[in-house]
Amino acid sequence: MSSTATVQKKSVSPAAPGKEKGISSKAKEIRNSFYGDFKMTNTRPKVNDSRIINGEEGDVVQLSPMKHQFAWDAYKAGNANHWLPEEISMQKDIELWKSKDLTDHERRAIKMTMGFFTTADSIVANNLVLAIYKHISSPECRMYLLRQAFEEAVHTHSYQYIVESVGLDESEIFNMYREVESIYDKDMFSVSLTEGVLADGFTTRSVEGAQKFLENLVIFYVITEGIFFYSSFLMMLSFQRQNKMTCTAEQFQYIMRDESMHMNFGIDMINAIKVEQPELWTDAFEARVYELVKKGVELEIIYGNDVIPHGILGLHPDSIREYVQHIADRRLERIGLKAIYGSDNPYPWMSEAIDLSKEKNFFETRVTEYQTGGTLEW
Ligand SMILES: [Fe+2]
Ligand SMILES: [Fe+2]
Repeated sequence: MSSTATVQKKSVSPAAPGKEKGISSKAKEIRNSFYGDFKMTNTRPKVNDSRIINGEEGDVVQLSPMKHQFAWDAYKAGNANHWLPEEISMQKDIELWKSKDLTDHERRAIKMTMGFFTTADSIVANNLVLAIYKHISSPECRMYLLRQAFEEAVHTHSYQYIVESVGLDESEIFNMYREVESIYDKDMFSVSLTEGVLADGFTTRSVEGAQKFLENLVIFYVITEGIFFYSSFLMMLSFQRQNKMTCTAEQFQYIMRDESMHMNFGIDMINAIKVEQPELWTDAFEARVYELVKKGVELEIIYGNDVIPHGILGLHPDSIREYVQHIADRRLERIGLKAIYGSDNPYPWMSEAIDLSKEKNFFETRVTEYQTGGTLEW
């Protein structure tokens, strides 16, 4: 019998239930921690066995049939929104930065905003790839995480492109997260939750571990991407409204559209976990979420004061505080919790941008020749 015939014969044979190839018990344990029980079987997974976390029984590599439709929708929307930083000209900003038409306060706000963002998206990407991905057991959520991780790289690329084009001091801007306390404190707040998930022996199979993992999702999707990022978007888009730094702001419009999807996806995951494992969402856990959001808001208000200690461009430390509190309330409501600040939004034009409204002519600048069809749709 030829070797080809042997292969053909094997491929059409019914699988022997529970059949294992030769493998050590340790190797099997490691493999199963990634894939669940990876044995030959004729038993097909049931779609409802799939869960966001702890769903290895539902199979982590079979994309269809699909349970978490929101993740697939986000993946396709992300692809449709594809963009790259170098497609946007930076010429006007290069000229403005060299001119005398920016005040020292405005230059400080721009540098601080870039100082936060140049490393923040890398921290988010590291958390996604090193801490979150392994524990997500829904194949379609993993698909979106791969798309999101790529987008975080595009965002860091964008900041590097802005810094280089405008001629900012790269070492000053990129090292700000180590030199400026208000940035360091925000980043450390986020990173500390990555460490919990990376600890030796960490598992989402225990209630305590799964709650630690949920905390990570809250910190990164609700607070880091949902609060920290938005007040910095507010800074840059305020420049745009004064017809200043419009090229940088246009990059930020694309980034904000991506980040809005990241946040919505994270909130959808959190809410799906609440449904799939209601035992995790205890009163004590809710109290912990409120505590984390309050801490994040406190850090963001300190940072806002540091970026614009004096009012510029219609921004003021008090209105920044109100804005941060307002969006924190909206994020809490999205995960089924109560608003705790009751602050009005001093910048309603931002909520239009965040909600991806259809007001297409709201922003003055726009990419007009986008090759992949990923133009902004607000
Ligand atoms: Fe990002
Ligand atoms: Fe993001």
